[in-house]
Amino acid sequence: MDLHILDHRLRVTSIAKNGLVHFTHPLIKLIFLRNRTRCKFFSLTETPENYTVVLDEEGFKELPPSEHLQVESSIWLPLNVVSNGNASSSSQAVGVTKIAKSVIAPLAQQHVSVFMLSTYQTDFILVRENDLSVVVSSLEEEFNIYKEVGGESVPLNCQDVSNGLQKNGKEAIQPTVHPVLIPKNQFCVMSLDPDTLPSIATILIDVLFYSSSPKEETHSSSSQDCIEFFSFSLIDGYVSLVMDTEAQRRFPADLLFTSSSGELWRMVRIGGHPLGFDECGIVAQISQPLADSDISAYYISTFSFDHALVPEEDIGSVTDMLQHQRTEPAT
Ligand code: ARG
Repeated sequence: MDLHILDHRLRVTSIAKNGLVHFTHPLIKLIFLRNRTRCKFFSLTETPENYTVVLDEEGFKELPPSEHLQVESSIWLPLNVVSNGNASSSSQAVGVTKIAKSVIAPLAQQHVSVFMLSTYQTDFILVRENDLSVVVSSLEEEFNIYKEVGGESVPLNCQDVSNGLQKNGKEAIQPTVHPVLIPKNQFCVMSLDPDTLPSIATILIDVLFYSSSPKEETHSSSSQDCIEFFSFSLIDGYVSLVMDTEAQRRFPADLLFTSSSGELWRMVRIGGHPLGFDECGIVAQISQPLADSDISAYYISTFSFDHALVPEEDIGSVTDMLQHQRTEPAT
């Protein structure tokens, strides 16, 4: 299998809800006016806490400095696994489940902190640029590693990067078990042709920027068990959307597409208080047991919390599994 270190240098930022008004102009440019910016990697996720914006340096230049903008200090690089078609694994599972054992577990073992971004198309594993040598030495056994430079994939000469330096290796530190929240909403993971973005512009603007000012009273008794979560990304020309079924109903059905009709997902939000960026093994802790049970999962890290999406029909077993993890921590 091949691992690509993509040619994007990313910043992880968050915009405070009450500061959004200072960013609507650049965000509209980044979402809708692709030929006015050189940004190639853009992701925006709304959660109850804030808006998480992950974007490359070109995009980052568009954001005005502001007290409402928090910026994680590191440069993050996206890794991407490309399986070269040989169906070596019998698994039908999609998302982080496919890379749990080969990428996520070894990185966690070497104490490398990751930031995950699953999209409709693929899963990006963001690592700190400063950790690159450890990343390469942890993964070079399993993968052919390529670095993308100006659109071309150059095989990485491992000696260039890895000087064998591994962070303190094997001693297994007991990972913190974070509380989880399982909201009631059902989610879908969708895509659309970027050329059709203009035709959904008003709905997208409404959903993204005006969600907290409902014009109609939709508050049924169940809505308090739901979480506000909407994710849009435009990465190398590909659009990915993660939204709940309530938001989905507002879009014209013929423009958005999903991999198999009616596939719905449930969310597990990980973290009781903001997770920060230094702790490692959080993604591993969730994705490992999912991989063991061959349950597909998307995984989206945001500035404050992590979010796993699992098939609706598996939420029961996933809940049991997490419960088990909490009452009987692995030794
Ligand atoms: N760094 C965590 C890990 O390596 C995942 C990201 C958690 N932090 C966050 N702000 N979402 O497992």
